[in-house]
Amino acid sequence: MPVATPVQVPAQVRIFDTTLRDGEQSPGCSMSPSQKLVMARALSELGVDVIETGFPASSQSDREAARLIAAELRDTTLCVLSRCLPADIEASARALAGSAKPRIHLFLSTSPLHREHKLRMSRGQVLDAVARSVVAARGFVDDVEFSAEDALRTEEDFLAEVIAAAIASGAATINLPDTVGYTTPTEIRGLFERMIANVPGARDVVFSTHCHNDLGLAVANSLAAIEGGARQVECSINGIGERAGNAALEEVVMGLKVRGAYFGADTSIDTSRIVPTSQLLQRLVGMPVQRNKAVVGANAFAHEAGIHQHGMLRHRGTYEIMRPEDVGWPSSQMVLGRHSGRAAVEQRLRALGYLLEEPELDLVFASFKALCEKQRVVHDKDLQTLMQDGADSEGYRLSSMTVSDVGQRARATVELSDPEGDRVFETAEGDGPVDALFGALALATGVDLTLESYQVHSVGLGADARGEANLSVRYAGEEYEGTGTSKDIIEASALAWLDVANRLLRARDGAKKSELAEA
Ligand code: KIV
Ligand code: ZN
Repeated sequence: MPVATPVQVPAQVRIFDTTLRDGEQSPGCSMSPSQKLVMARALSELGVDVIETGFPASSQSDREAARLIAAELRDTTLCVLSRCLPADIEASARALAGSAKPRIHLFLSTSPLHREHKLRMSRGQVLDAVARSVVAARGFVDDVEFSAEDALRTEEDFLAEVIAAAIASGAATINLPDTVGYTTPTEIRGLFERMIANVPGARDVVFSTHCHNDLGLAVANSLAAIEGGARQVECSINGIGERAGNAALEEVVMGLKVRGAYFGADTSIDTSRIVPTSQLLQRLVGMPVQRNKAVVGANAFAHEAGIHQHGMLRHRGTYEIMRPEDVGWPSSQMVLGRHSGRAAVEQRLRALGYLLEEPELDLVFASFKALCEKQRVVHDKDLQTLMQDGADSEGYRLSSMTVSDVGQRARATVELSDPEGDRVFETAEGDGPVDALFGALALATGVDLTLESYQVHSVGLGADARGEANLSVRYAGEEYEGTGTSKDIIEASALAWLDVANRLLRARDGAKKSELAEA
């Protein structure tokens, strides 16, 4: 048994969740603004200290999501990412307007490789940009975080100068990201210890760690950084993030909790919300976690070998270091049906990760009651479908579609219900099935989209595999992105197209409403 270090009062480590920014920007994980809002509610209920809602300068969709979340969540710090550029900082400030606890998160690369090849900036220019940008961001908000991108491959003397400049200019949090997942636990622990001990002003700010998982060390490195003095961890649900991902929130949090005596640190996470939040994200982005994933994988608490089962029956501690119910695995499944009330439906939705405001719950409960007229038992999958329908209900919805070959060309027919609930049918021909489909959707909605990019890929394996389509368009100088998932890749493409078109129509309606209000 390792020897535990005796600690009296556990240090409080802030959980900074970047699922909606670093996570969302990774392939196959994009979310619409309304999906981000659903996820942000779950993160707030989970008890994260900071939610990074997006990168406003990068897309209209990020700006819309940041604004939606800022309008609703008042108790959690809401943070947006920003390059060290005046236009980015202004876009970030606008996206955070009205937020109760706003934070601007500035970043600039500091490593020699990035300075020379990416930025083409000297050390002096980097230092100037950091100081100038922190001061500019402080002009908008009190809470500014600075990240020295690729910090773990930066010369230590220069890193110390950058940190000192950011602190002197008003940053309250200093993040040292292992941007490419290169470091090791011993190395990162030492770096944090030396920076906190030696940089002027370091003891007055919070040091943060942000580790990527390229070598599978993101969680180990994050925990080592905490041992070195970091008091904020940047992590994401299920570890989603650029390339191999970020440190998985559930693993960092349970590491600190289960080995509390060793680390002498704790978080304010309600660990019983971990599994519902993980499952919500899996459904929203259509990316299931591997069965043997720590904490949230289907096998994390499964015991099959006879010798293990025998041990478990005698004492669960023989093969379990945490209890499944402590991380939110349901101990029993409730059956919902005709006699179930609103409270039971709300409770089951919460267990699935959905936290609804009153009017939304009314709508879902009405759909639930209608479903009970058709089937005796309502399963989790049915509730998820109701939620999906609810999320897509603002705007045009796909009722049915057929695509067939006509000689060398393809013909698509779509049936939609429009925002008023009326049926619309249209048919179009095109060079291939997707071209024909998009043509029919354009005729049915009156929205003509020029695609900038369109990708489809498969997520999941075997019977669980689903197709995901992502597309982006530029309209009136703004970029709009859409995502759709379905068992059928053509249907996923139609859903992605409608996702963008509905967002564009909402933006257009919003602009009209504000013009009328100003007139
Ligand atoms: O990995 C990284 O360096 C980042 C920064 C923008 C914080 O995501
Ligand atoms: Zn990152």
